[in-house]
Amino acid sequence: MAQDALKTWAGKWALITGASAGIGLEFAKLLAAGGANLVLTARRADRLKNTASELSAQYRVKIEIFSADLLRPEAPVEIFNFTSGKNIEVELLINNAGFGAFGYVHEIPVEKMLEMIQVNCSAVVRLTRLYLPLMVARKHGDVLIVASLASFQAVPFSTVYAATKAFDLSFAEGVAEELRGSGVRVCALCPGTTNTEFQQVAKQPERVFRSAEPAEKPARVGLEALAAGKAYVISGFMNKLMKEGQRLAPRRFVTRTAAKMMRP
Ligand SMILES: NC(=O)c1ccc[n+]([C@@H]2O[C@H](COP(=O)([O-])OP(=O)(O)OC[C@H]3O[C@@H](n4cnc5c(N)ncnc54)[C@H](OP(=O)(O)O)[C@@H]3O)[C@@H](O)[C@H]2O)c1
Repeated sequence: MAQDALKTWAGKWALITGASAGIGLEFAKLLAAGGANLVLTARRADRLKNTASELSAQYRVKIEIFSADLLRPEAPVEIFNFTSGKNIEVELLINNAGFGAFGYVHEIPVEKMLEMIQVNCSAVVRLTRLYLPLMVARKHGDVLIVASLASFQAVPFSTVYAATKAFDLSFAEGVAEELRGSGVRVCALCPGTTNTEFQQVAKQPERVFRSAEPAEKPARVGLEALAAGKAYVISGFMNKLMKEGQRLAPRRFVTRTAAKMMRP
């Protein structure tokens, strides 16, 4: 059943942002193994090149790479123009690129926080808005948006990051419902702590991510949920349990508990 889900996109094109590392790289591996052709994008072109040559040799799929910095507001249009220019019909768009920043809001440079909003939210809206009309017109297509377990609550010391991920979840669920019955599916993947370069980039202390999942796990869970038509999915049993606990407890208690875990 799970393997079948990964073959949903066999022979079709999937576009993955943030494909140079972590969860994005695992999406690329799983989709290539399922027979999908890939467009990989991120800033680090060398990594994309290596992944493309390895996966295309191993799975005999077509892979295009396009290096782009999603901090630049024009980047989504450039990615769209790249795929249109090659007559690539993107059947699956995975908005995965993202990053966090750890610390007090009054100390993190404001530019860094606005950059997070740009990559984690604005670029997601722009890319989705570019590809959706084509999907709606042809009555099929899939969009996966990588949100987070942090989408469900405030996370002090990752405050802006958690707020961007709340946006992603809300955006995905809203669009999923708008397009219900249209043939276009939208799903938010909510991973808990995952073993990637994320913590290093966010300068997050080690103790905050004790029980990290391997990156392959949320990638697989996300693709399976999308294929099953779910509007959102949480990766991992303990993470699901944690989210249910958050829902039942008073919001202030949930925020304070998170602060205790995260405090620098
Ligand atoms: N790891 C976790 O614990 C965790 C938990 C929940 C949700 N998530 C979410 O999962 C997604 C993937 O993160 P990850 O954990 O796999 O982290 P990661 O290993 O740091 O990978 C992040 C990816 O995003 C790309 N990226 C970052 N800034 C970019 C920019 N300005 N322009 C284009 N691409 C950019 C990076 O590529 P380049 O640096 O090459 O550009 C990289 O490929 C993110 O949306 C993150 O918020 C992660």
